[in-house]
Amino acid sequence: MPIKKAIFPVAGLGTRFLPATKAQPKEMLPVVDKPLIQYAVEEAYAAGVREMIFVTGRHKRPIEDHFDLTYELEVALEQAGKDELLSVVRSVKPDDMECVYVRQAQALGLGHAVLCGRRLVGNDPFAVLLADDLMVGQPPVLQQMVEQFKEWRASILAVQEVPPEHTRRYGIVAGTTVNDRLVDITRIVEKPAPEQAPSNLGVAGRYILTAGVFDEIVRQPRGVGGEIQLTDGIAGLLRREKVFAYRYEGKRYDCGSKEGFLQANVELALQHPALGAGFRDYLKGLEI
Ligand code: G1P
Repeated sequence: MPIKKAIFPVAGLGTRFLPATKAQPKEMLPVVDKPLIQYAVEEAYAAGVREMIFVTGRHKRPIEDHFDLTYELEVALEQAGKDELLSVVRSVKPDDMECVYVRQAQALGLGHAVLCGRRLVGNDPFAVLLADDLMVGQPPVLQQMVEQFKEWRASILAVQEVPPEHTRRYGIVAGTTVNDRLVDITRIVEKPAPEQAPSNLGVAGRYILTAGVFDEIVRQPRGVGGEIQLTDGIAGLLRREKVFAYRYEGKRYDCGSKEGFLQANVELALQHPALGAGFRDYLKGLEI
């Protein structure tokens, strides 16, 4: 059963990036030359996902516009013979990719956002991608997870080791080791204090979930921060089904924080085919 649908929760207010996010979605902030959300959508597409479900809110229209046809721009580029730019613009939404939008009227938490996609997802397993986490991997991280899903036919969460003092930032999992990369999860806790954390394996913003998680989210009372947490829904799911944690191969940039966002910009600029060499020389010349 291939993973054909993905939920992108994009209704958050992005308060950590104010004033940049006063009138534009944080998901549209560019890392080098692409908005954050496009990295996540490209990762999902590369993994075989073809239906992108955006859970949006007020002030998120630029995301819809970004994945829409920009007719005037395309005509202008065509007439000017700017073929390369035209293909850059057209590649944002390949013809076989469908984008659908559902509104989350109230910011009640990540679990609630995922629940807003329930009707569009139906009964098939699906992916959740948090655009704040920019993941770089070869193969792309979600594709690695799809491979695992094909083998295990169960929910898969991307995890990484986090410093003990950072457990309050993540869903933390614990369980029994299956192999180098896989843990059979027996416990998951949202943002525990270091002394309460069951391990140092933190969930990154990539999930493959079975549809059973929806029923579990519905049952959850408000959790950490007064929000309906996806982590709590997954805790319910693993009482009924197997859920695995997968140590992905690659790098995560926490673009929900200014530091991570700046690191992503610097490192991706250094890897950029056109900008990389010049930018490296520029950085070397800085007196720091
Ligand atoms: C969310 C999840 C958390 C997960 C994290 C990954 O938290 O609730 O379990 O570890 O994403 O980035 P947020 O960063 O939205 O506070």
